[in-house]
Formats: sequence, structure tokens, C-alpha cells
Amino acid sequence: MNENINKLREEVWLELEKIADLEALEKFRVKYLGKKGAITALLRSMGSLPKEERPLFGKAVNELSTEVEEKLEEKEAQLMEAKRARQLAEEALDVTLPGRAPRLGHRHPLKQVMEEIEEIFLNMGYTIADGREVEDDFHNFEALNIPKDHPSRDMQDTFWISSDTLIRTHTSSVQSRVMEKQDPPVRIIAPGRVYRCDDDVTHSPMFHQVEGLVVDKGITFGDLKWTLTVFIKALFGQERQVRFRPSYFPFTEPSCEVDVSCFVCNGKGCRLCKNTGWIEILGAGMVHPNVLKIAGYDTKVYTGFAFGLGIERIAMLRYGIDDIRLFYESDMRFLSQF
Ligand code: DAH
Repeated sequence: MNENINKLREEVWLELEKIADLEALEKFRVKYLGKKGAITALLRSMGSLPKEERPLFGKAVNELSTEVEEKLEEKEAQLMEAKRARQLAEEALDVTLPGRAPRLGHRHPLKQVMEEIEEIFLNMGYTIADGREVEDDFHNFEALNIPKDHPSRDMQDTFWISSDTLIRTHTSSVQSRVMEKQDPPVRIIAPGRVYRCDDDVTHSPMFHQVEGLVVDKGITFGDLKWTLTVFIKALFGQERQVRFRPSYFPFTEPSCEVDVSCFVCNGKGCRLCKNTGWIEILGAGMVHPNVLKIAGYDTKVYTGFAFGLGIERIAMLRYGIDDIRLFYESDMRFLSQF
């Protein structure tokens, strides 16, 4: 009988040594000390022994049981400690690592150009004026010397909302709004959205313009030339040449278009300037006396000049962008370049 106990003891120690985790240890406990465990079975088998052998046998089994329990506890403590150490190593945090910086956004390229233009004029003492995008025929056309059936209306393909209401085709409508409210001197720029029924790689049904208007005593074409030359050089570089060409707009007389010497080829001729050496930047002119009269200004006392330019066009020229739709697609691969 004692032989049985010793064999079991050997088996137990061998097995216990191999145990490497807490689950295996629990299985081990059940296998030997559980209700149906081997040591428990030995105790139960005591009944079949002769009476006189029972006490010794019982004592031996109890000793084994106590030994096993002690070893088990020891082993359990070891395994728990090892598990904790492993966990600590695995989940270690280096609190000295730098944080992850969020990706910084920036202003849209159109907004950047717009703000640059605003900055130049704000520095020259202009203020920023606001109009409305849903406009009436009077402020978008008639007050600007474009009567109802005037052929110059064809220059701007209009989105009509009703026979009298439209979405503005140009920021020139802000001229009429400002002069209606304010007496001279006037010195404003008006950036904003405009709409035309037009859609291809260089035209979008919605785009942006900046309008400028100056009205005061004794304003001359010389003031216009000086202002726009200073502006264009500030925007495109002091080394640029500026050229004024006669043109036609119903709300200015005389009217002109203003070109800048090509900033890619420096005037020698290239693809961007279509080999002319010049790039058209804006339209301008002396405010037509009819426009001043409609605003209620005394044309014997006051004169003025006005100008208008397209933001998309300037951004496209400057950054060499050949498709206007890129501005509106919110594609980060495009936008992040600016
Ligand atoms: N409104 C014109 C357009 O959209 C641009 C323009 C030309 C505005 C001459 C002006 C100007 O103020 O004087 O094409």
C-alpha cells in the first residue's frame, strides 16, 4: 500500500514540475485533490484495508495531500508572479514618447488668393463691402448702365430666378448697393461668389470675383493706373510689367483690360501667355456717368474708377492649374499642395 503512495508521490512531483500556467495547475489540482482525484480515491480505498493498517495508511495519505497542497500553493504563487511580470512587460507604456500631432489644415487656395488681395487693398485704406448673392435686375444690370434689352447682357449668361430676380453674375452689383447707401468718398473692395450659366475646364457655374470701386472728387484715370499697377506688382512681383488695353464695359467709360507680363517666360512668349508675353488679369475703367447719376451722385463734382477680377483665374495662372473643377472637389491630394 505504501508503495502505491510513493508511486503516486513521484508521479505528482514529476507532473507538477512541468506545469507552466495557471490553467494547467487547476487541472492538476482537480486530477489529484478533486472529489474524483487520485489522492481522494486513495483515502476512500481505506475502507477495504484491514482495520490495523488503516491508521498508518491514512496518515501517509494525509501527509501526501498536505504536501501536495503546499507545493500547489507555492507553484500558484510563482505562476501568478510570472504572469504579472509578463503582463507588465507587454503593456509597458513609454510615457516619455512624444504625442501624435494632429494633421494641420490650411486655408483653401482660393481663400488664400482672396485674402492676399484683400490685404493689399486694406493696406491702401479700402474697406470690404458686402452685397447679396440673390440680386435683382436693377442692382445687377440696370443701375450699372445695362438696360433691359441691351446687347451687353449677352456677355453674362444669367441664371434667372424670376423675371426680376437672379443670382448675381458679377460682384459689380455691390457697386450699386454701396452707392445707394453711401455718399462719396467711396473706397471699397467686394469679394464674393458669382454665378453664370457656363461650365467647362476654365469656367464654373459658380466662381469668385473681387470688385473695386473708388469715387471721390477729382479721381482720374491716372489714379486708376497707379492703383492697379501697385496692386498687380504687389500680387505678382515688383519686377512685373503692367499694360492697359482699351476695352468695353457698359458701366465704365473709358474701359480697359489690364495685363501683366507673363510670370513664366518673363514676356518672351510661352504656353501660358499663348506666346503673347502678356496675361490678362482684370477689367477696369472710369465709372460711367450714368452709373453715378443713377446712384444720385453729382457727376460735376464726383468721378470714380472701378475694376473687377476673377479669383479662380488668378489662382489657376499662379499655380499652373488647368482645370477649374479641382478647386471644388475637396480632394486632399490637390488641396494639400497649397
Ligand atoms: N463685372 C465685369 C465682369 O464680370 C468685370 C469688371 C470689368 C468689373 C470692369 C469692373 C470694371 O468694375 O470696371 O466681367
